[in-house]
Amino acid sequence: LWPPSATIGAITGPMASEDSGEYARIWDGDEHAMLFADEALASLQALVDLHEPGWKRRRVLDFGCGTGLLTARLAPLVAEVVAVDISSAMLDVLAGKSIPNVVTHRGDLLDPTYRATASWLSGFDLVVTSCVCDALVDYPAALRILASALKPGGVLAQWDWIASDDDDDGLRIDVVERALAAADLTCLHLGEAFHIDFEDDDVPVLMAVGMRRLPLLG
Ligand SMILES: C[S@@+](CC[C@H](N)C(=O)[O-])C[C@H]1O[C@@H](n2cnc3c(N)ncnc32)[C@H](O)[C@@H]1O
Repeated sequence: LWPPSATIGAITGPMASEDSGEYARIWDGDEHAMLFADEALASLQALVDLHEPGWKRRRVLDFGCGTGLLTARLAPLVAEVVAVDISSAMLDVLAGKSIPNVVTHRGDLLDPTYRATASWLSGFDLVVTSCVCDALVDYPAALRILASALKPGGVLAQWDWIASDDDDDGLRIDVVERALAAADLTCLHLGEAFHIDFEDDDVPVLMAVGMRRLPLLG
């Protein structure tokens, strides 16, 4: 959910499945959404050197890309970002940014019928998903689908609000840990990455980074 339920002010309601025209109009003007994307990229850079020249040949999938806040930050560093979202309104905003090495797809990756048509869904070096997974109906299934889109040795990075005892908005760290394992991803990092400071609440964000296993030599 955005914003997290503890901080809901002007914007309310889940944005998981509806075609979020209202969100698309305001998203890029939301200072917290901007900060989230900046912090997500910085936390990834702290683990993975995206300025290493090899990244200029690598491909990234941004699942639930929205208006492309993270896509736009990653695109200059890599060969291509494939950005997928269920919302055409969000994707229209991203298309308006005319980023040359970004390809967009509209669809629900959790829908097997859509996935059967998504021949592009493989061979990624990096999959990112920012502030999406906590609102999904079946987060572990999503992680399995995203993991299978990685090359062996490829990395998935996820950011979401951390659920707490008195607020179940977000994901619990143990739930993420189990989902990484169930998706056969080696956990490289899991924990609180940063906070987003809303007026009445300071909300923690988790980052999970998992690697698709390399085949055993034999
Ligand atoms: C809170 S927004 C985050 C957007 C972007 N990742 C960011 O950090 O600015 C969540 C996005 O996930 C998309 N989304 C939710 N469920 C999805 C699904 N099953 N398949 C594709 N996109 C989905 C929504 O349409 C929305 O654009």
